[in-house]
Amino acid sequence: MKYGRTYNFSAGPAMMPEPVLEEIAAEMMNYRGSGMCVMEMSHRSKVFQQIRDEAEADLRKLMGIPGNYKVLFIQGGGTVQFAMVAMNLMKNGVGCYVETGAWSKKAIAEAKKYGEVKIVASSADKNFSYIPDCSNLDIPENADYVYICENETINGTTYFNLPDTKGKVLVSDQSSMFLSRPCDVSRYGLIWGGVQKNVGPAGMAVVIIREDLLRDDLPKFVPTYMSYKTHADNDSLYNTPNCWAIYCCGKVFKY
Ligand SMILES: Cc1ncc(COP(=O)(O)O)c(C=O)c1O
Repeated sequence: MKYGRTYNFSAGPAMMPEPVLEEIAAEMMNYRGSGMCVMEMSHRSKVFQQIRDEAEADLRKLMGIPGNYKVLFIQGGGTVQFAMVAMNLMKNGVGCYVETGAWSKKAIAEAKKYGEVKIVASSADKNFSYIPDCSNLDIPENADYVYICENETINGTTYFNLPDTKGKVLVSDQSSMFLSRPCDVSRYGLIWGGVQKNVGPAGMAVVIIREDLLRDDLPKFVPTYMSYKTHADNDSLYNTPNCWAIYCCGKVFKY
């Protein structure tokens, strides 16, 4: 094996494609004649704008993301998304959650801070060893969305059929399965994934959100940074983004 590298199949940060790491290494001291490392350049520069735009375009192509969805690169990794989903999507104040293990439990605990949470299915009875039947969920009329953790990293379960949300918006945490199999984005209102398992450095999430879910009328307590619309309106460049993570993810998308 080249470089004597470790086979790391961890459920946390794991192996990245070697050609990607090699490319990053080659560009470290001088990115394509810019005289700078990507870490050193302005997020407002033309060079970085191209890196960002290409990353988004490549992800759109890879996943076949429809034109009415925004692609956002948001700092804070997965855990921040537990709060952002509830803060942004609880218009009526009601979120339905499928409880399948450690990560959906964290999402549920966080959502409870912002509204009413209804657990519409659970596999707690058998220590989260299976995905419960989601073909006829009891979803209240005023529910804002149905939330799933599509791949419970710690419990080792995944969905082979998506829940019947009875017309409500489907939200999915795809952190540990992101880009690992084909995905029909049009079946979801929002998909998010922390990128650190197989796409890039920890500390950033990719959010794919249907445009009609972006809101101007969020409660006043929602910090500017926590509004999806802030990021959508500014091409994920509202503040200084995690340029390094966007760059590395873009390399993996291209690969
Ligand atoms: C499915 C899933 N959701 C959310 C998270 C939390 O992400 P982060 O550690 O980036 O906050 C993880 C793990 O790290 C995860 O595996």
